[in-house]
Amino acid sequence: MALAKRMAEAADLVTVALDQLLPRAEGPEQRLTEAMRYAALGPGKRMRPFFAIETGRMFDLDERAVLRAACALECIQAYSLIHDDLPCMDDDDMRRGRPTVHKAYDEATAVLAGDALQTVAFEILADPDTHHDGGVRAEMVLRLAQAAGARGMCGGQMIDMLGVRDDLGAVARMQRLKTGALIAVSFELPLIMAHAGEAERHALMAFAQDIGLAYQIVDDLLDVEGDSAVLGKKAGKDAEMGKANYVTLLGADAARERLALLAEQTKSHLDPFGQQADFLRASVDFVLDRRN
Ligand code: IPE
Ligand code: IPE
Ligand code: MG
Ligand code: MG
Ligand code: MG
Repeated sequence: MALAKRMAEAADLVTVALDQLLPRAEGPEQRLTEAMRYAALGPGKRMRPFFAIETGRMFDLDERAVLRAACALECIQAYSLIHDDLPCMDDDDMRRGRPTVHKAYDEATAVLAGDALQTVAFEILADPDTHHDGGVRAEMVLRLAQAAGARGMCGGQMIDMLGVRDDLGAVARMQRLKTGALIAVSFELPLIMAHAGEAERHALMAFAQDIGLAYQIVDDLLDVEGDSAVLGKKAGKDAEMGKANYVTLLGADAARERLALLAEQTKSHLDPFGQQADFLRASVDFVLDRRN
């Protein structure tokens, strides 16, 4: 099966499962639940869920359990994008080809929808329906909390807002936190369920680190070279807002050269998994070649 088909199938599974897991849009708080559903069920690539599902397959995990963990990851992703787009952050009007949540609703609703999507993520992971072993659930909750929090995604977003100047090391650290942490935990949740050994964990986490960095460098390249209509979000924002990243610091050509080197290194971490990792291997090229 081709990668595109495998990704589309995983994305559909996640959308259907999320539809079931998210609160129904009814009752006096309907505006909030509607906004949560608008953001989370919207047409995202569902890359983090895909990484989790593929890892789950490598370890023969129960598909339903992994799908629920994948939904938790996508809830954090949706929340992070709602807040990232707010006027007090990147102030964006378009996301996933549609008005951002604060444009379709209002700012208070967007803040609350982000907050509540974040708690849904932990509700899903902590639910005994996700895994029979309370110790496994607790470890997944712990690792997702760490990845999303002040020493993870939120911390990276803070550094992004404060701005990093002319320092590639500082930019790398920012990227590792704001994008890399959630991508890394997408591999880690299934590793926890699989009780994976040290060597497998080490190899896959090295892969996760590198693909996370590549993911954000491509995002930054697309911001310069992409087309807003294809991206589904406004291009040219990083330069407009004076953001520092690999592309604004090194220039697009040098950033692309780094990406090519990084791609080979990223794939090499999968060597110990052989053919079982073919789809993850192919996803590196997908991440590099993506247009949105
Ligand atoms: C956008 O993530 C924000 C970044 C961390 C680069 P994606 O490009 O994965 O966005 P969606 O989920 O497909 O909309
Ligand atoms: C956002 O990075 C990363 C998040 C944690 C949401 P960007 O601000 O570059 O993401 P886009 O370009 O708006 O999707
Ligand atoms: Mg941002
Ligand atoms: Mg942004
Ligand atoms: Mg961006």
